Amino acid sequence: MSLPPSAWAIYRRLLGLVGPYRGVLLLALLGLLVEGAAAGAFGMLTKPMVDETFVARNREFGILLPLAIVGIFVVRGMAGYLTDLYMAKAARGVARDMRVRAMDKYLRLPGLRFDGEPVPSMLVRLGSDSDQVAQAVVDSGKVMLQQSLQVVAMLAVMLYASWRVTLAVLLLGPLIAWMMDKVGRRYRRYGHKVQETSAQMMLAADQALSNQQDVKVYGAREMEMARYSRLADDNLRLSLKVEATRSISSAVVQLTGAVGLALLLFFAGHEALAGRLTAGGFVQLMISMLAIIPALKQLTNVQGMLQRGVASAERLFHVLDAEDETDTGTRPLQRARGLIEFRDVTLQYPGQPHSALQGISFVARPGTVTAIVGRSGSGKSSLVKLIPRFYEPGGGQILLDGHPLSEYRLADLRRQLAMVGQQVMLFDGSVAENVAYGELQQASPGDVERVLRGANALEFVAQMSEGADTHIGVKGASSPAASASVWRSRALLKDAPILILDEATAALDNASERLVQEALAHLIPDRTTLVIAHRLSTVEHADQILVLDEGRLVEQGTHAELLARGGVYAHLHAMQFRETGA
Ligand SMILES: Nc1ncnc2c1ncn2[C@@H]1O[C@H](COP(=O)(O)OP(=O)(O)OP(=O)(O)O)[C@@H](O)[C@H]1O
Ligand SMILES: [Mg+2]
Repeated sequence: MSLPPSAWAIYRRLLGLVGPYRGVLLLALLGLLVEGAAAGAFGMLTKPMVDETFVARNREFGILLPLAIVGIFVVRGMAGYLTDLYMAKAARGVARDMRVRAMDKYLRLPGLRFDGEPVPSMLVRLGSDSDQVAQAVVDSGKVMLQQSLQVVAMLAVMLYASWRVTLAVLLLGPLIAWMMDKVGRRYRRYGHKVQETSAQMMLAADQALSNQQDVKVYGAREMEMARYSRLADDNLRLSLKVEATRSISSAVVQLTGAVGLALLLFFAGHEALAGRLTAGGFVQLMISMLAIIPALKQLTNVQGMLQRGVASAERLFHVLDAEDETDTGTRPLQRARGLIEFRDVTLQYPGQPHSALQGISFVARPGTVTAIVGRSGSGKSSLVKLIPRFYEPGGGQILLDGHPLSEYRLADLRRQLAMVGQQVMLFDGSVAENVAYGELQQASPGDVERVLRGANALEFVAQMSEGADTHIGVKGASSPAASASVWRSRALLKDAPILILDEATAALDNASERLVQEALAHLIPDRTTLVIAHRLSTVEHADQILVLDEGRLVEQGTHAELLARGGVYAHLHAMQFRETGA
């Protein structure tokens, strides 16, 4: 097989994946051997079929042979069933192992590495790539063994029938192999291109459909249709080429069969004249030879399967080999006091020309609220994402209770904070399950009710069809109000010393925002709270306000101090004051 050396290395590693399925594969191998033997046995029967039944007119064989044929095929069918079953078990098992391991790795990747791969591509790794790997490592092996055994069995039968004719016909072998390889290559090349255009078509459709409102507003329907039609045309053209190649390929197989048969007849005629070959022997040769050709054709497919699988495996191994988040801290941490200190912290995302954060220093004390404001893109979210170590700062230090964050175990550190991000996604499940999420799942229904009440969400949840058992999330309906109820309650239930809110109130109307404010008042005491909000009215009572601009901390102080300063904050405030007309 012509695979580059690196591909062989990947393939060897792939073979390691079938380790756990050794037993199952051994059974499948047994089935394969029986199948091969049955094919050989049938080949052997073809001679007496003709010679005894038609030439010698032997009555006994007239009953025995039909019975034997049925018997052989019963055995062959059962063996084939077991082979398929066990092979599928191993192949599906390998695919499952691959996707579970990749999923596990994805959830452990450091933030930057995670951002580097779009989620749809991750879904492909977990989906078709895992399946292709299983094909390469199990199914290709099956085809290779099954068809090779078929070829060996049939060749043995042919040699038994007449070694002279067989050797003569075998001279044709290399030619057949060469032709089949040629056709197979062309087929694979176009097949691959068809897949590519299908993927492009999907991408174009996804973009146009996901942004259908923009498409309409900007009058881009015709442009999008032109793009999509062009890709659809490409796809059609290539699909037709694939069909043509498929047809050529079967014509080639038939032609080779005919040429083989002609040669066979030619040599067999000689042998018959010499008295070395009976009519039955000739039928046996012919049937065996005709059985070899499709087997050879299948064998030429194996390389394509291997190549696809190896390419998929390469992508998957690239994911599996990525480093986990660094988690080397050992300092024990039960419950932090919640003293957070930033010392000259910088952060630069790779590929970005400017630092997202530069020289950030501040202290957030337990029991206080620190508000972070600034224009869009000024680095507010980036700043708070450093605290759970979603990203590592490029310079400076962040301390919790006086020790660098990296000295703690990640799980311990993250247990110290409740966080509400810019988009609150609900998980598929009931309200109660969404509140008591992750490590909180031990919470009793009583606890859940208590936090729902504490978060001003009990009344809202009681209005839902099944109260706290109402299904929300992916399949159920989840309004912004429902999401907000869930995150407030979840944060309250977690009862963490540090609370981080990133524009959590932006999507709410005034009435529900007031409820949220009340609930926040409930959440905030005794904690270190960091809150990012665009509405400055929500941060007026903060103990300190940090004003960010282009990644720098440009102002710091209380609402009154900053207003008196007449700087960036005062300016932002004046603008919002005008807008709201308050
Ligand atoms: N994962 C990322 N990879 C690369 N660049 C990023 C990433 N996240 C943010 N940035 C960039 O870093 C800068 C700060 O972004 P950040 O999200 O922290 O701003 P923000 O103040 O929270 O803005 P907004 O008010 O719109 O939420 C922006 O220029 C943004 O494009
Ligand atoms: Mg943000």
